[in-house]
Amino acid sequence: MEADERRTGRAVAHRPSTEPTVQPSRPAPAAAPTPTRLGARLQRAHAIADLRRQAARRLPKAVFDFIDGGAEDERTLRDNVEAFDDWMLMPRVGIDVATRDLSRSILGYRASLPIMMAPTGLAGFFWPDGEVAGAQAAARAGIPYCLSTNSVGSIEHVAEGAPEGERWFQLYFLRDREWMQALLRRAAAARYRVLCLTVDLAVQGRRERDLRNAFTMPLKPRLSTALDLARRPGWLAGAARSRLGFGNFQAGGFQAGGAAAGHGFTSVAQHVASLFDPSASWDDIARIRDAWRGPMALKGLLHPADAARAVALGIEAVIVSNHGGRQLDDVPAAIHALPGVAEAVAGRAEVILDGGVRRGTDVIKALALGATACSLGRPFLWGLSAGGTAGVSRAIEIVRGELDNAMTLLGTPTLEAITRDHLRPRRGGW
Ligand SMILES: Cc1cc2nc3c(=O)[nH]c(=O)nc-3n(C[C@H](O)[C@H](O)[C@H](O)COP(=O)(O)O)c2cc1C
Repeated sequence: MEADERRTGRAVAHRPSTEPTVQPSRPAPAAAPTPTRLGARLQRAHAIADLRRQAARRLPKAVFDFIDGGAEDERTLRDNVEAFDDWMLMPRVGIDVATRDLSRSILGYRASLPIMMAPTGLAGFFWPDGEVAGAQAAARAGIPYCLSTNSVGSIEHVAEGAPEGERWFQLYFLRDREWMQALLRRAAAARYRVLCLTVDLAVQGRRERDLRNAFTMPLKPRLSTALDLARRPGWLAGAARSRLGFGNFQAGGFQAGGAAAGHGFTSVAQHVASLFDPSASWDDIARIRDAWRGPMALKGLLHPADAARAVALGIEAVIVSNHGGRQLDDVPAAIHALPGVAEAVAGRAEVILDGGVRRGTDVIKALALGATACSLGRPFLWGLSAGGTAGVSRAIEIVRGELDNAMTLLGTPTLEAITRDHLRPRRGGW
């Protein structure tokens, strides 16, 4: 299901709201690569890891580390990826795999692939108008796009820039409950169909790379990073013409300091500490459930009992996630937590696996262990940082190609054909 034929392709101006805050170095940075050069470079990316390398070349170190990094010793960050190695695939032969169907219904939306774009804050800091770029790529590919509360582009701006796609809105618990309700109303009015409530960020995890890099949005000019910035003219030129801030906190009436208000250098940790509410309980989750008319997903669960509780509240999807290893370190890898959650949910809600997916074979493993679909964060951010919409499209294309190839060789022409019997533990037990 390709949505690009239906798309208008209309360019959307970046949402004006604050003073430009990253100054271009002098002399003016070189122009961004031409679409052809960019396209050729993206075509040389054959795996998500290649896009990560391209992103590392274009982004300043502090910005790359913000995407790439995790909490404390980054054990969970590593485990999320490496835990997929604990499973091997067991192919079957003699099955007609001449045609394959990779489509999957995710909360009632027929997606062309069993994947979605995870909510990620600050995308507009990585590529000009990054949220719209990501949402457009998702719409073209026919997969859901989830906009973060902490986006640079606002709810309305992204809906206008990618009107065709399947849009979800991700909400955090804010101290200002009226503002939270206002965000819900704005998301509904802008036709975001699904609400994704993230519940694993009572406070921000201790992300030491960001502390060491003194990461803020915008980047604070420092002598020690001037050379690094000077080597990133493409990114610098884009950031210089962007209006940076937390777009959803800038529309009428919200009282906040720092980047939320559109001035100053704000770390994400400061933003979270000043605005987010660590007191939220299941009662508050139930209230949000009641307030949102459409389907709702709860993101950031690992414990089966929490998943069961979410289902009891009438939540339609649980997202098994440790926030990409960015919150509490040393918690289970998402793929390890998945079977317990799937068992507790027992088909009463959809289960989405979030964290560490880098390959089509990872998607197969997640589906075999009970997931309806997978949610990917960094793979799309690396694509975005390497090449905007085209870069995200390339990331989707890579996952699609890998998944299709693996399904063919596994003997599973449809996603429904993938079962637990297609997996074996790598070490012993079979
Ligand atoms: C740079 C970055 C920003 C993120 N911002 C948010 C956010 O605003 N809201 C949220 O629910 N999760 C956020 N996440 C977590 C992702 O939604 C997702 O859980 C995680 O990236 C999945 O792991 P993966 O990157 O290995 O795919 C963010 C992740 C990254 C890398």
